[in-house]
Amino acid sequence: MELRDAIYKRQSIRKYTDADVPHEDMLKIIDAGRIAPSGDNSQNWYFLVIRDRALRDKIGETVMAKNEEIALVMDKKDPAKGLRFRKFAKNFMLFAMEAPVLVVVYATNNYPSGYYEYVFAEYPQSEIDKLFVRNPGMQNIGAALENMTLTAIDLGYGSCLMTSQNYAAEELQALLKNEIGFEKEGYFLTTMMPIGVPQEGARSPSKKSLEEICTFV
Ligand SMILES: Cc1cc2nc3c(=O)[nH]c(=O)nc-3n(C[C@H](O)[C@H](O)[C@H](O)COP(=O)(O)O)c2cc1C
Repeated sequence: MELRDAIYKRQSIRKYTDADVPHEDMLKIIDAGRIAPSGDNSQNWYFLVIRDRALRDKIGETVMAKNEEIALVMDKKDPAKGLRFRKFAKNFMLFAMEAPVLVVVYATNNYPSGYYEYVFAEYPQSEIDKLFVRNPGMQNIGAALENMTLTAIDLGYGSCLMTSQNYAAEELQALLKNEIGFEKEGYFLTTMMPIGVPQEGARSPSKKSLEEICTFV
């Protein structure tokens, strides 16, 4: 597929057929992430590829348990808002457990330029924190995941980047450690990416115009 076609064909896919994604294709998809650019060539990513259905169900249950914990507190202030949060998790998180493959993305920090200098020069923490607003570590993860997304499309699959589960990130890390012994020193869960053959009919929201997002001088 032409690169331009893959870029313009891409949509977030939230419904998948039962068709499998063979291991060889998953290797190609992860390999496309592996060669992505990263600040300081830090390659601060690690991919956990989950096919196990029971484990994916437990991931869904873990997020929903945390969701319920938060929603119960919200209910006390405004039950409608609590309900909305519950629906959000069902619509924008649980679908991922139905894909044949779920990639769980871990990352470690890629410290911004100036970080060590600020620390050495004893700049206030508030100034150090500001460096992380432009967080290069997370920009690296975005680059790797876009490579993977476009490669998946090229191979006939669809996917969706997901961060909405991250309010349960620590619980998920604990689950994966307890269930399969997975943990990686200094790494934390950042993103999930279901991959599978898309069902027809995915719809994407409209995009801003070029004029709104760009200035030429
Ligand atoms: C960093 C990031 C996080 C996202 N998290 C979620 C998510 O948790 N759940 C979900 O259903 N979609 C998620 N999306 C998909 C966006 O909702 C989607 O990209 C956006 O609505 C535009 O639609 P399109 O991807 O079909 O063009 C995420 C996308 C990005 C880039």
